[in-house]
Amino acid sequence: MTTDELKDYLQNGARFKIKELNVKNGTIEYIAFDTMTITNLADDDFQELYNFFYEGLSEQSRVYFPFYPLLRPQPETPQTVRERIVQWRVESDWFFYVLKDGVHIIGVSLLKRISTGHPVAGIAIADKYHKRGLGTVMLKAAIAQAKLLNLYTIYSGVAPDNDASYALHTKCGFVLTGQTMPYFVTKNGENIIARHDKELILQVS
Ligand SMILES: CC(C)(COP(=O)(O)OP(=O)(O)OC[C@H]1O[C@@H](n2cnc3c(N)ncnc32)[C@H](O)[C@@H]1OP(=O)(O)O)[C@@H](O)C(=O)NCCC(=O)NCCS
Repeated sequence: MTTDELKDYLQNGARFKIKELNVKNGTIEYIAFDTMTITNLADDDFQELYNFFYEGLSEQSRVYFPFYPLLRPQPETPQTVRERIVQWRVESDWFFYVLKDGVHIIGVSLLKRISTGHPVAGIAIADKYHKRGLGTVMLKAAIAQAKLLNLYTIYSGVAPDNDASYALHTKCGFVLTGQTMPYFVTKNGENIIARHDKELILQVS
């Protein structure tokens, strides 16, 4: 897929004019629109990512988007986030995009476990920026990266009551296939279902 085709894909239906899209060696490196930019997570983004997690997202949003492995288990200091970013780079089969308004991170999207044949997408937008079309741009950035990688499918697990995420994913072409394996917790010596997500799949190409 050419850069112009990707730009058309991102622009189609967007509430913003995409001013710039840079692709280098098969990786989306930079997208600019309105006053915002989308770039790959850098090691030095750790403090902003920490602030986004604790100040930008409500507790409910943090539950919906677990942020593993960067912010789960919850880091005590921003420096821990930096260490985890550096450690995660060893795996090399993930992309993590940060949406910045000026210098502040206000959204993230990711594509991970690309090499396993079961690539997963994730997304979160700061609560006060919801419903402005930013989730759509960020999820489409992750999908555009998947297109560049010629991935066949992307999986996403959405909590049963997360209507916003369900609406966003279906808007971007994901289809409900059923439920993921449930998460269990142990209570009084018994395994009980803690959460049972909806599974949505996008056929990328
Ligand atoms: C899910 C989330 C990323 C959506 O971000 P957003 O920036 O509000 O998304 P958009 O503005 O691009 O909206 C996308 C679509 O979803 C719809 N939508 C948004 N919030 C909605 C809600 N609460 N209920 C129903 N539909 C909703 C919008 O109307 C829009 O559709 P439209 O363009 O046809 O009107 C955001 O709510 C979020 O970060 N939630 C917390 C973390 C989370 O749940 N992550 C996903 C884990 S699976």
